[in-house]
Amino acid sequence: MQAQKEIIEKLKSEVFEFRANSSEELEKFRIRFLGAKNILKDLYGEIKNIPNEHKKDFGVLMNDLKQLAEAKFEEFKTLKEEKSSAQTKPDLSLPVENFEGSRHPISIVQNKIIDIFGEIGFDVSEAQEIEDDWHNFSALNLPADHPARDMQDTFFVNQNPDWMLRTHTSSVQVRLMEHTQPPIRSIMPGRVYRNETISARAHCYFHQVEGLYIAEKVSFVDLKQTLYYFVKRFFGDHVKVRFRPSYFPFTEPSAEMDIDCQICGGSGCSVCKQSGWVEILGCGMVHPNVLTNCKIDAEKYSGFAFGMGIERLTMLKYQINDLRLFSENDVRFLRQFSGA
Ligand code: PHE
Repeated sequence: MQAQKEIIEKLKSEVFEFRANSSEELEKFRIRFLGAKNILKDLYGEIKNIPNEHKKDFGVLMNDLKQLAEAKFEEFKTLKEEKSSAQTKPDLSLPVENFEGSRHPISIVQNKIIDIFGEIGFDVSEAQEIEDDWHNFSALNLPADHPARDMQDTFFVNQNPDWMLRTHTSSVQVRLMEHTQPPIRSIMPGRVYRNETISARAHCYFHQVEGLYIAEKVSFVDLKQTLYYFVKRFFGDHVKVRFRPSYFPFTEPSAEMDIDCQICGGSGCSVCKQSGWVEILGCGMVHPNVLTNCKIDAEKYSGFAFGMGIERLTMLKYQINDLRLFSENDVRFLRQFSGA
């Protein structure tokens, strides 16, 4: 019995240490331990040489060995199956061939705006969409009961008047000024929210790019030249521009900039309300109170700010007449931008 026991132990450790590195190795293992003429069968033949009182122990040892070999085979067989099923799943890290999608027109225009301002030294700043009262309103010279808060119908979070979905990306300007001393030259693209009824001309969310330039001796001339540069690069040299005086609590003086309607060419249509002009942005010289609120020396520095809606610019550039198309995800609409 001792001799047979030793053989069984040896085979057991062989099974125990076995690792299949290939399917050929696994197949060899299967033939040796589980095949039609496997090595265990020869060993079972030894039972006739075992004294009766040890026959039972021998049987137990042989059974153990057989179970161990079966378990080992199963282990590597499932590994192999997992591997081959993994190979049939798509590898998401591979580069895409025949890419079917296209960028959303809002992204295309946003990237274009970032590129144009980048040419004249503006970098990009971003911040969160859920804002506190200070960054969205108070720091911008809009204290709690200021009537101009009504200009931007606000979504509050959990009806808490301190937390809201930002109504403009001016909040990003505040955050930037709080942490950066001039010179500051940055644009703030992002999504903003206002509680407006959805129609062809208004939506409860849209996208803005605001801009801020603060340094010593910045004047309204700098503001106008920067915005002229932008519209001519964006729409082309033919575009006509006019400024109108306006009011924003965070800028003084304030203005709005119109361009000639790119849809009807200035002759009058529903988009320009028959006027031939379309307002594309608000702007002005940053109010000294805003600088002071953001810990910037208003005696030493001055600056300008502007803000424009990306949807409006996109509609004018691509002759789109309904704002809702941007959020409906209709592929027939989106596909038209695959070459842009
Ligand atoms: N924050 C203003 C708005 O969303 C736009 C603006 C920005 C106007 C900066 C002037 C200066 O309506």
